[in-house]
Amino acid sequence: KKITIAIDGYSSTGKSTVAKQLASHLNYIYVDTGAMYRAVTLYALNNNIISETVFNKEKLINELDNIEITFKYNETKGFAEVLLNSINVEHQIRTLKVSNFVSPIATVSEIRKKLVSQQQRLGKDKGVVMDGRDIGTVVFPDADLKLFMTASAEERAQRRYKELIERGDAVNYEDIYNNVVERDLIDTTRKDSPLVKAKDAIEIDNSQLTLDGQFHTILQLVKD
Ligand code: C5P
Repeated sequence: KKITIAIDGYSSTGKSTVAKQLASHLNYIYVDTGAMYRAVTLYALNNNIISETVFNKEKLINELDNIEITFKYNETKGFAEVLLNSINVEHQIRTLKVSNFVSPIATVSEIRKKLVSQQQRLGKDKGVVMDGRDIGTVVFPDADLKLFMTASAEERAQRRYKELIERGDAVNYEDIYNNVVERDLIDTTRKDSPLVKAKDAIEIDNSQLTLDGQFHTILQLVKD
């Protein structure tokens, strides 16, 4: 019997890695909700809505109907990539620049409302793994299995740093560390659906777990 799996947690805790593993193993769909907030952020950056000095919320809200986010399955990669107004932005949304502006964008209630209802439509049939910050609390409060991932900030920054270096981005560890800490702070303190562990979520601290170890721990939970 297919179920709904909600994976939440702090930044760079490896939510998407395990979500992708689970989805392909179980033959479920995977929805990366962070990618949706990142795509909106890219739109805002490209349209002078947000920068170091400007955050024009009103313009963003007025232009919500011009922001279309869709997913397209990539056979080679084995997961769905995100499109912003029909353009594949999967690579562009992972830059440190987008990471630096995404949490303020994600505080805007009108944005959350739009994305949450799209997420609910995408996951309306069972057989879905969805990761984010509010999946077990807001998007699917009745999810069959809720996981809450944690790891030390140093560990998370280290992993993210490695990822960005591997894809060829010029970044330094300090900036990544600061971004991880800053995003956690904004995500946990925003007014609308702050990041919090759902009461019935199972917490998994993966600081000391290998990817394989983590996957098997979680797979066991799915089977129980
Ligand atoms: O998961 P990822 O790190 O790509 O998410 C980027 C940002 O998007 C988060 O730091 C958070 O500010 C926002 N987000 C959110 N709610 C979600 C998913 C992501 O607010 N469900």
